[in-house]
Amino acid sequence: MSLLTEIEPLKQAALDELRAAGDLAALEHSKGTWIGPHGRFTGLMKQLGSLPKEERPAAGKLINSAKSELESALAVRREALELQAVLPKDPTDFTLPGRRRTVGRLHPLSQVTEDIIRAFRKIGFVVADGPEVEDEFHCFDALNTPADHPARDSQDTFYLASQAPAGETVPGAVGDKPWLLRTHTSSVQIRIMQSQPPPIRIIAPGRVYRRDNADATHNPTFHQIEGLYVDRGVTVGDLKGTVEFVFKELMGEDVKLRFRPHYFSYTEPSLEIDFTNPLVKKLGKDWLEIAGCGMVHPQVFENVGYDPEVWSGWAFGFGIERIAMLRYGISDIRLFYENDVRFLGQF
Ligand code: DAH
Repeated sequence: MSLLTEIEPLKQAALDELRAAGDLAALEHSKGTWIGPHGRFTGLMKQLGSLPKEERPAAGKLINSAKSELESALAVRREALELQAVLPKDPTDFTLPGRRRTVGRLHPLSQVTEDIIRAFRKIGFVVADGPEVEDEFHCFDALNTPADHPARDSQDTFYLASQAPAGETVPGAVGDKPWLLRTHTSSVQIRIMQSQPPPIRIIAPGRVYRRDNADATHNPTFHQIEGLYVDRGVTVGDLKGTVEFVFKELMGEDVKLRFRPHYFSYTEPSLEIDFTNPLVKKLGKDWLEIAGCGMVHPQVFENVGYDPEVWSGWAFGFGIERIAMLRYGISDIRLFYENDVRFLGQF
């Protein structure tokens, strides 16, 4: 058989083998057999020299075109085998339930905080912020809280081992007084009044710290929202109207509030706010204490350089957890901090 007549059947055999390769290893092996450096088609090329001169061009052309046909058959088979290798071995069961990526959502405390902020924004309040690591001036002294107040006792408050670094002068801080984790957001009132002139209309949500043992209604870390309104001629009536508006926005129209005389060193008069609605009644209670508030004490204005003869204002502070517990009917505050998705997923 002449070389020319050999080419076509060889090519057919090669094509059959390449197309039948069961896996990538077998395919590579066949490639070597046929078109590798020692393959049979390379061998044919080498035999060209033995042909009569006039037959060589036609034979060379035939071999080359057969080779390129084999190359493309190889590429096609390789692609198919590669795809096969990455596909699952077992058949896909289209009746299985799909894997769904659940959409996350905000923590219930964040949701309540955002709703409170939204309600206050409607009546012109802006959000203010302050540090959680505070000095005693902003947390206590400027708020007219005397040195013998229980909150200033190390049994009740987390003091930091380190003192304020020298040179780091917090405005109003007295020398090297110790730092502490703020016990309430009222410190933000002082920082804001120190940093800007009246009028002021702010709310300050944030985390606060107390040395409480955790139980169903206490946690050493919790959240408050502080409010401060300073302008000319501000009255207790403004305070009551504002608080009532916000609680109705949050909890619905069937809310009742009661203001009781109380004592805070930074307000005069001072009041406590009791709250009730059908849910509170269901819990077997008539009223729930929900916030402290009052008219800003003239001494506090003096401490921040406001003239108490010109400016008047009110302030309040309430616990966010309390409101969230009431709103959602949660009986144990610790649930907020455990990050159990079975709990969090309900809000
Ligand atoms: N700081 C108080 C607390 O943590 C709450 C409070 C009471 C804030 C009266 C105020 C206020 O601004 O006027 O219990």
